[in-house]
Amino acid sequence: MSANFSASRRRFAGSFLDSFLLIDMNTNGASENLPGGKASGAATPVSGTVADVRARIGTLRRRQHGARVSLVPTMGFFHEGHLNLMRAARNESDFVVVSIFVNPIQFAPTEDLAAYPRDLGRDLAMGSAVGVNLFFVPPDEEIYPQGFDTKIEVGRVAEGLCAETRPGHFQGVATVVAKLFNIVRPDKAYFGQKDAQQAAVIKQMTEDLNFGIEIRVCPTVREADGLAMSSRNTYLNSEERSQAGVLYQSLSEARTAVAAGETSASRLRRMIKKAIAANYMVDLEYVRIVDPGTMEPVAAVDRPALAAVAAKVGRARLIDNEMLIPPGGTDAQDRS
Ligand code: PAJ
Repeated sequence: MSANFSASRRRFAGSFLDSFLLIDMNTNGASENLPGGKASGAATPVSGTVADVRARIGTLRRRQHGARVSLVPTMGFFHEGHLNLMRAARNESDFVVVSIFVNPIQFAPTEDLAAYPRDLGRDLAMGSAVGVNLFFVPPDEEIYPQGFDTKIEVGRVAEGLCAETRPGHFQGVATVVAKLFNIVRPDKAYFGQKDAQQAAVIKQMTEDLNFGIEIRVCPTVREADGLAMSSRNTYLNSEERSQAGVLYQSLSEARTAVAAGETSASRLRRMIKKAIAANYMVDLEYVRIVDPGTMEPVAAVDRPALAAVAAKVGRARLIDNEMLIPPGGTDAQDRS
């Protein structure tokens, strides 16, 4: 992973992103200093350094005793899923910090770090429009300076499902989120149900390491055909895009079956697999029925369970999940 990380640093050295941020790195200034398009007109400040974020939040807390600070960690290229987290944060706090950082250590060398879609100017404009108070957009070396050598390894909840094909992924996620938590020290942090295992990993870490941060998990925002919004959907061509809708449709079929009394996890998995197999461009990686808290497989859906799928569609690796609620049961998920 570290080789991959240095490669990514080299790849982006001298890129537009670096020059975009140098101004803030050097001056601790705000977004008024940023060059180019709509972003330069955005009223929301942009910090590129840990010191600047700390100084701004320190000033806020001194001026406004008891100010409630929220953090929405992202990798940018915003869509409604991201914006919804920001709106929830804005509604439940006094000051919303959004981090935009494509975290190199959560990508394996074979994955799409270099291709990951980026549009900082658009992100700043969209985030400003929903009331974000501060963007944190650090360059790689601000988060992983020379000599950085610590990893956060969460236990069982970070095994299985996505960890099977993405070894090291949740270690990378937990490490960067722990750093962001320590940099911002928010009261609450917002994550999406779309990445259910990620949210469970963050909850476990937050509890185990006594971060004292409330983890809010917001519902998955979907396109009209049910496809979960994702920055990676931009990789899909039109035919792949139309077939990708089957992921959610198959989960919905399972949900309906459970509501009608089906309890067998193996029958539900077969049902989902069969629906997906009818779409030749959707290459299923896994379908699992799991306990929504522990992510451990369950044999019977006699209480709310989570159906989770991952598939390759063209260049994109897509994931989705849906709660399965037996008749008379309630969705006990923490959602805001
Ligand atoms: P990213 O993929 O940018 O997602 C940022 C947040 O938005 C995550 O909490 C994710 O679950 C949420 N999200 C994405 N699509 C969503 C959708 N359709 N509906 C609701 N929420 C959605 O997840 C990451 O970045 C990174 O792993 C990160 C946590 C920032 C650590 O690097």
